[in-house]
Amino acid sequence: MSRFTVNNLPQEYRLDPETPLLWALRDVSNLTGTKYGCGTGHCGACTVDVDGRAVKSCQVTIGSLEGTFVTTIEGLARDRSHPVQAAFLAAQVVQCGFCIPGFVMATVALLRQNRDPSEAEIAAALNHLCRCGIYPRLIDAVRQAAAAARGDATLAPPP
Ligand code: FES
Repeated sequence: MSRFTVNNLPQEYRLDPETPLLWALRDVSNLTGTKYGCGTGHCGACTVDVDGRAVKSCQVTIGSLEGTFVTTIEGLARDRSHPVQAAFLAAQVVQCGFCIPGFVMATVALLRQNRDPSEAEIAAALNHLCRCGIYPRLIDAVRQAAAAARGDATLAPPP
């Protein structure tokens, strides 16, 4: 059994400890906002927050997470009012949307560590794959979210 917290709720997973976190979240907890893209740690679609760090959930086993705090896209703000979600909406980042939860979670972790990231730092932290090519608007959104987090700008409320 693997015990850790997901979105502020204690969880017990009666699965093989080698099970990737991605599948426990999606198949047991029904947290399907975390996406399966490649399963090899390259695309970033499965990114969640573990103890304040962006983690690719296809690459971490549930047995290694005892006592940790995991946050998924569902754990941010269901009304999309989290500053990163609001910035993604304001910058109109989303096209097909499949990769967006991973980008949002990676942005949350980045801004926790760096409140004023450069374009190069954003590109390095968000080196995920997006087939729609949202990258220019993504940079804009991260900058907007960072400015809002610093108190230098105000984001429009979500529609
Ligand atoms: Fe985990 Fe692609 S599904 S990195």
